[in-house]
Amino acid sequence: MATKYDNAIGSEIINQFGGKPELLVQVLHAFVKRYGFIHKEAIRQIADELNISRADVHGVVSFYHDFRTTKPGRHIVKICQAEACQAMGSRSLTAHAEKRLEVALHETTEDGGISLEPVFCLGNCACSPAVMIDEKVYGRVDPDKLDVLIDMCRD
Ligand code: FES
Repeated sequence: MATKYDNAIGSEIINQFGGKPELLVQVLHAFVKRYGFIHKEAIRQIADELNISRADVHGVVSFYHDFRTTKPGRHIVKICQAEACQAMGSRSLTAHAEKRLEVALHETTEDGGISLEPVFCLGNCACSPAVMIDEKVYGRVDPDKLDVLIDMCRD
């Protein structure tokens, strides 16, 4: 996954969607696919080339949880915050993860190893609380199990 921003690639991505401002969400998804996050420079370029304001682009980026503006960690730990998981302790599990990793939700550990993110239902409600690490979903995660999973992420 590329991390250094390239204006020519940015234009290429924007042009794939015909430069249509109504396709802003799709454009942003394409940037995330390419870079893993939305560079500040990309926000400027998208606004300029779609002829919309930077505030409009920022508004959409901050509305959707999938659009991050910082480089993601090597591993992404997502803890479900939806109703069924909350009823089974996902809030205290999140507090445990924040303490253990020394980050808040939406942040990445100092070593760049793990990003902690909220997610709203992983389709695993029967086994709540649910956690997703990278692409794998785990059910009935308690603090001890989460510690083991986090240890597995340490490179
Ligand atoms: S509410 Fe958490 S997996 Fe559905």
